[in-house]
Amino acid sequence: MKTRIITAALLLISSALSAQTVNVQIHEDSRNLNVIPKEIYGQFSEHLGSCIYGGLWVGPESEIPNIEGYRTDVFYALKELKVPVMRWPGGCFADDYHWRDGIGPKEDRPRMVNSNWGGTVEDNSFGTHEFLNLCELLGCEPYISGNVGSGSVEEMAKWVEYMTAPDGPMAKLRAENGHKEPWKVKYFGIGNEAWGCGGNMKPEYYSHVYRRYATYCRNFGNNRLYKIGSGASDYDYDWTKVLMEMIGNQMDGVSLHYYTVKGWNGSKGSATQFDAEEYYNTLGKAMGIEPVIRRHMAIMDTYDPEKKVDLLVDEWGTWFDVEPGTNPGHLFQQNTMRDAMVAALSLNIFHKYTERVKMTNIAQVANVLQAMVLTKGDKMVLTPTYHVFRMYNVHQDAEYIPSECDSEIRMDGLGRPYPVVDATVSRNAAGEINVALVNTDLEKGMEAVLNFDSLGKATVSGEILTSGNIQDYNGFDDPDKVAPQAFKDFKVKDGKIIVKLPAKSIVCLNIN
Ligand code: AHR
Repeated sequence: MKTRIITAALLLISSALSAQTVNVQIHEDSRNLNVIPKEIYGQFSEHLGSCIYGGLWVGPESEIPNIEGYRTDVFYALKELKVPVMRWPGGCFADDYHWRDGIGPKEDRPRMVNSNWGGTVEDNSFGTHEFLNLCELLGCEPYISGNVGSGSVEEMAKWVEYMTAPDGPMAKLRAENGHKEPWKVKYFGIGNEAWGCGGNMKPEYYSHVYRRYATYCRNFGNNRLYKIGSGASDYDYDWTKVLMEMIGNQMDGVSLHYYTVKGWNGSKGSATQFDAEEYYNTLGKAMGIEPVIRRHMAIMDTYDPEKKVDLLVDEWGTWFDVEPGTNPGHLFQQNTMRDAMVAALSLNIFHKYTERVKMTNIAQVANVLQAMVLTKGDKMVLTPTYHVFRMYNVHQDAEYIPSECDSEIRMDGLGRPYPVVDATVSRNAAGEINVALVNTDLEKGMEAVLNFDSLGKATVSGEILTSGNIQDYNGFDDPDKVAPQAFKDFKVKDGKIIVKLPAKSIVCLNIN
């Protein structure tokens, strides 16, 4: 009896130990691979809190170092990220925004109350020129959200003309304001969250409104607009169904918003003070975006089997309580290694669905929600999420290589699945393979065995993002607490790569 108990115990221990190894099968010889559009790595910048003012823009007169008004530190940080597309001016703010208030001499620009976000007075010193010029400097596509909620068809039509027409009265006005040449504007959103802050509409009503507004958003010169319908929130599948039925042939893309949030009522939890259970619950919620995307895609497939309409997740990311002492309407939250995990797992999911998902925009680029950078006066920190976006930017416009990872799938405290180890793989134009591996376990290191169809001789280099505690973040006095390091804990053997993944880590390998 005693021997049997000991044998059973030994078996348990050995199976626990073998569970530390996961196999990732990488099918790099597959043909007709999808490309991961660079726009999957899009950003979102709203007139909200200090995203624009203090985050991207300080104005040319500021003592904070700037390039024509854009913060120098933030500008170069974003350059490094290779931001492909940036959405502006909202969000909810978009449906309160009147673009004519933000052009012409700064001293003549009217002020307004930003009613959505803390009642802050907006002086309109950052407007159309400031945004589009920033996009040009960054080399990214602008994505403009037009005002449907409180604007007019005429106002929207004239905005498109002002930005893109080579000649005519709006082009003349633009030239008088210092920009003779038209800008190229591709992505144009017909409203935002039309079911909520964008007008509290029903999908049928919005569809009619969309038709009217979209009709007058015209192509000028060589500019070709890509029109985006204001899509569903999370699990509102009926919204997608009605839009596809009624305006599926009028939209280039339809949006979807999904936040990793505990709930909309009551506390959303601290961004920095949380326990292991809350951490895993956050991952469970973040992973929930996958079935949501699949279900919206399935609805779209029934109306649009040829996949002419794209699905754009143009708001996503973590949403926690604001930092104590900050304006609750400004959505300023710190960003820990937990946020980095959410970013990596979400990007891994987006990579899988690029036959329909062509753009995503994390909310938001600076000082708001799951930000890339946080600023305080002249100080700036890069967040753990920033580091993931930088480490992952090798996947932009790369071929998505299918892979299978036999990791254990665990349930969070609310019964939602999340993987222990997750992987994503792509091949860039130079033929190099980039693999990202995520170990979500807080305690245990894992061994990942990467198996290939036919890996020949390979030179491998790696980078890791991890930290002592999952709650670690980059504070203004400790800006490099969570930062990527070179990673060498792997072996190339018999056509395989064996990688030792520390607990709570994100490892990126480049193989050529
Ligand atoms: O990103 C913050 C807000 O969340 C946006 O303004 C709105 O579209 C969404 O509800």
